[in-house]
Amino acid sequence: MNDLNDRLRQLQTDSLERIARTEDLEALGALRSWLLGRSGELTTLLRRLPEMEAGERPAAGKLANEVRGAVEEAIAARRDALTGGEAEARLAAEAVDMTAPGRPWRIGHLHPTMTVERDLREIFHAFGFEVFEGPEIETDAMNFEALNIPPDHPSRDLWDTLYVAEPGVEPPTPAADGTILRTHTSPVQIRAMLALRPPIRVIMPGRCFRHEAVDASHNFEFFQVEGLVVDHDTSLADLKGMLEEFARALYGESTRTRFRPGYYPFTEPSAAFDVSCLVCGGTGCAACGRSGWMTILGAGMVHPTVLRAGGIDPDEFQGYAFGMGLDRITLLRHGIPDLRLLMGADLRFLEQFVAGR
Ligand code: PHE
Repeated sequence: MNDLNDRLRQLQTDSLERIARTEDLEALGALRSWLLGRSGELTTLLRRLPEMEAGERPAAGKLANEVRGAVEEAIAARRDALTGGEAEARLAAEAVDMTAPGRPWRIGHLHPTMTVERDLREIFHAFGFEVFEGPEIETDAMNFEALNIPPDHPSRDLWDTLYVAEPGVEPPTPAADGTILRTHTSPVQIRAMLALRPPIRVIMPGRCFRHEAVDASHNFEFFQVEGLVVDHDTSLADLKGMLEEFARALYGESTRTRFRPGYYPFTEPSAAFDVSCLVCGGTGCAACGRSGWMTILGAGMVHPTVLRAGGIDPDEFQGYAFGMGLDRITLLRHGIPDLRLLMGADLRFLEQFVAGR
């Protein structure tokens, strides 16, 4: 009965091919039961051996054993190949390439306005100033009254104020305790005088807020650096000399400066301090309104009333103070045309101004 022999050979050929094509252990397992299971293809054929004539049986039995052996061997080999492959893939996935270059850390950088602040801290540090910081949320008493600006005084118009609302009151009404957002860093003068004893020599950097109509050169949020010196015989000459040195440290030796009369309720006398235009150098251009000068800060001798509010006896001590905005310094330094870009938090823009780049 050669029919059985043929079918055995055919099954061997087919099986070896199918085993070789299996792609995972599961498929191999399924194929194995299909062939060698209780009612598997090969098992079924083997059961038919007794049907054969006695003379043919030994040869057929031998062939059947060969086929079974070949199939089992092929399954075992395929299993090894598959598990070997899986293990290899797992190892490859877990492998660490010790020779690969490290991944660079994405390090942040200072905002260009904070770079200016840092530069000012360094310059004033060299001039012997310490840093003293005060809160952004202030009281009317600190922001105005202690600075010789009584309620309803017309000079309040210089500082359009953002008020913190009284909780639960409609329509929104300024908080009864006078909580506001500071409109300048000058209230920190009072805090510094109350906290420190003369000789006082501090700068006070920080964020300020004003109720401004926002445009290319005005924002409701901006940065200032305030300065205060209180000592036995501090004079206007000290202030002037110090500011001239400051301007040259910030803008270079060839910077020309000018001191003009100004008005602030908390300094007397008050001054505006100008530097030769940073765009045209002094010949006159659009940036300086054709004047050749740019005002960079306000300053003056601390008003006796303000010294008293800081707990300092004006008969014993004098002081000078100055205050400047950082945002415009930043715009001029980088040729940025619009203040709003600084507060935009757009990294594609800000990343151009990594200090030292
Ligand atoms: N506080 C003033 C302002 O914001 C600046 C200033 C500070 C002027 C100190 C004089 C002295 O405009």
